[in-house]
Amino acid sequence: AHQPLLAPSILSANFTRLAEECQAVIDGGADLLHIDVMDGHFVENITIGLPVVEALRAEFPDTFLDVHIMISNPDLYAAKFVEAGADSVSFHPEATVHSHGVIQEIHAAGGLASLAINPSTSLDVLDYIIEDLDMILIMGVNPGFGGQSFIPQTMRKLKDVKERLARHGIDDMPIQVDGGVKLNNIAEIYQAGANVLVSGSGVFNNKPYKDTISAMKAELQP
Ligand code: DX5
Ligand code: ZN
Repeated sequence: AHQPLLAPSILSANFTRLAEECQAVIDGGADLLHIDVMDGHFVENITIGLPVVEALRAEFPDTFLDVHIMISNPDLYAAKFVEAGADSVSFHPEATVHSHGVIQEIHAAGGLASLAINPSTSLDVLDYIIEDLDMILIMGVNPGFGGQSFIPQTMRKLKDVKERLARHGIDDMPIQVDGGVKLNNIAEIYQAGANVLVSGSGVFNNKPYKDTISAMKAELQP
């Protein structure tokens, strides 16, 4: 199976010192940076856009940038985030009627494509595109804000997504969980099948980051 990866979400970083904050989590053992893009339309918050992704790519040429776009009409922007420097782009099927087309656009731009699934969204959206995806993102909260509590039904969804992958004969798909992941539940979420663990407030509200990241990674044992 896929090596577990820890992905701090920079949404909870101090934005006035973004480069320092990113450097600190990278030095502390972060495997990738999770970047939350919000448009004030698909979700009730406005955060990071293309120029910040571009700036982070320039500052951190060797770091995997995992961009999560919580925006309406990802059709218009997904490829632009790859061009700005994203390695992977996660978009929401609830925000477009052309999920398959968005995946193709991300791939054509040279990025990895991931589908982000809201707590109330059925896994049925995966049925005819699952083979085309590079990752599946299961939301542990309703997207929009950092610092929310993990929704318990996510555990059942993780079990279901694993079954679905098995049914399609896929055994190496990275499964990301995003939202509400903390030191006290990360082991359980990993055991349920998530292997890319995003944590925003769980990391950035707990200095020194190095100790928090080490403690979290210590929980990710088979
Ligand atoms: C939620 C974002 C998450 C969020 C995670 O809208 O997509 O990435 O920042 O933050 P925590 O870990 O604080 O729930
Ligand atoms: Zn996110």
